[in-house]
Amino acid sequence: MSVNSPVIGVVGGGQLARMMAAPAVEMGLELRCLAESADVSAVSAIVATTVGDYRDFATLNAFAETVDVLTFDHEHVPTEFLTELVARGVAVRPGPEALIYAQDKVKMRERIDELGLPNPAWRAVSSVAEVVAFGDEIGWPVVAKTPRGGYDGKGVAVLREKNDADAILEWFSSGQVLVEQFVPFERELSAMAARNASGDVAVWPVVHTVQVDGVCDEVYAPAPDLDATVAAAASEAARRIGSSLGIVGTFAVEMFQVGDSFLINELAMRPHNTGHWTQDGCTASQFEQHLRAVADLPLASVSVLGSGTVMKNILGGSNADLASMYASAWAAAPEAKIHNYGKSVRPGRKVGHVNMPISSNLESSLAKVREVVEIIREGKTP
Ligand SMILES: Nc1ncnc2c1ncn2[C@@H]1O[C@H](COP(=O)(O)OP(=O)(O)OP(=O)(O)O)[C@@H](O)[C@H]1O
Ligand SMILES: [Mg+2]
Repeated sequence: MSVNSPVIGVVGGGQLARMMAAPAVEMGLELRCLAESADVSAVSAIVATTVGDYRDFATLNAFAETVDVLTFDHEHVPTEFLTELVARGVAVRPGPEALIYAQDKVKMRERIDELGLPNPAWRAVSSVAEVVAFGDEIGWPVVAKTPRGGYDGKGVAVLREKNDADAILEWFSSGQVLVEQFVPFERELSAMAARNASGDVAVWPVVHTVQVDGVCDEVYAPAPDLDATVAAAASEAARRIGSSLGIVGTFAVEMFQVGDSFLINELAMRPHNTGHWTQDGCTASQFEQHLRAVADLPLASVSVLGSGTVMKNILGGSNADLASMYASAWAAAPEAKIHNYGKSVRPGRKVGHVNMPISSNLESSLAKVREVVEIIREGKTP
């Protein structure tokens, strides 16, 4: 078998790595994976998978030596390991000097302030007393976050009043905590973009995202009725963040819309749940775009096919065999594009998603996608 260059290595074997496999195959680019165990999502999709612990430098380095470009399925690789790989000449994309702002929410808030982009009121605090002082100053409720390691709402707590602050006492054992003003947002938005190693940036239309219990549930793309000025400003913010931070790859800027303005929530530097709609709603998916960007190839068009797409996640429910319901799901909506991560089903776990083209109107497509997800998740027709 001939191997085309560059060989791209992805650290982490979750569904994001898995979904890079399809465009890699289409483009004839070799993708290799360093997976945390033999039964994670990407293993059945990426032939060249090594099982190993990315928290062990020797393992990570050995994997890096087999590829031309190193990229990621998650943001948890220790920054100092990546810095060392860069010093050894590995093309790490995105590089540690950018990735740090997706790894550490305090550093991210500082950088967003420096760029003059809109942050909620925030403070890095070292004690419960400082949390209380912050809340008393800017008003309750406040939102507390662990700067590192959070995902899907883990490491995020809404503190309604000062007596709630004790609940996060143990968070201080691993250092500072980020506290933020509770933003009374109208909706959440995501501005996603990709930047290649040469510095070209392409920004997808801004989307409306719905989180339930801190977990992404639905995405409406493009964001319905978004004021053109807000959309342009949000896109420009994403472009500036990509260029100023020197991000390489696909990235997301999560935002809160408040009236005719927005505040930045956080950054993700990898393909993102709020970009899954691009798989069926754009010429090229965020996964193809990510591979192009890290391989320093020209970026794909970000124009929307048709009238847009609604995406809904499949979170684990009572049905353990998702594919057993495909016939019923497609009987209800043949246009549904079902994505299954091949993971074992556990309650609330992200196990797949469904993309539905917006045909006549958003409401009817949304009703359809909800019906399809319900069928697959619960294993019965409603
Ligand atoms: N300051 C805030 N005010 C109001 N709601 C907030 C605030 N910060 C976070 N949230 C809510 O909590 C959700 C999760 O927060 P955040 O995105 O910081 O956490 P995360 O666990 O890192 O998320 P992800 O799954 O995107 O990695 C947000 O999408 C939003 O719904
Ligand atoms: Mg988030």
